[in-house]
Amino acid sequence: MAILKIATLGNPILRRVADPIPPGDILGDDIQKLIADMRETMEDYDGVGLAAPQVHRSIRLVILVQSKKELVLINPVITPLTDRVVRSFEGCLSVPEMRAAVDRVQKVRVQALNERAEPLDFIAENFNAIVVQHECDHLDATLYIDRCDTKTLAFLNNYRKFGPLDPDFRDDDDSEDGGEE
Ligand code: NI
Repeated sequence: MAILKIATLGNPILRRVADPIPPGDILGDDIQKLIADMRETMEDYDGVGLAAPQVHRSIRLVILVQSKKELVLINPVITPLTDRVVRSFEGCLSVPEMRAAVDRVQKVRVQALNERAEPLDFIAENFNAIVVQHECDHLDATLYIDRCDTKTLAFLNNYRKFGPLDPDFRDDDDSEDGGEE
């Protein structure tokens, strides 16, 4: 296994729509090794999610933490299940040392294949839904800074020093500074 290099803001691979993975390729050595390396990389960075384009592979694969468990999503499809949004401060390994407030759909359905090419179909809410949407956005060339309330953008050291630049923000769940994705 290996810790992979992370592509950062300005690298064009983050702005390319990622390609689907043929299901027949999932059990092959290339994808299996990539999953193992991405898992090691995410853990090394203490991240809560990592998308393949962030490690220079433009394919539709993410790994993420859902309720403290690691999951692999291949070719994920996200369906919003509510009009409600939840606001949290997000960070991203590809946009180092920054935080900003982002509104996300509070509840989504997730359909994907896992690392054994088995179908997954589950509902994600609140922090889990935020992580899923952040990661799947990477597959569509979208970063959280495209969606954020730009007046809340802060360097991480200032975010820690002064707190969130959002008078309406209430940290009523575990989402504040939940890690980088
Ligand atoms: Ni990210």
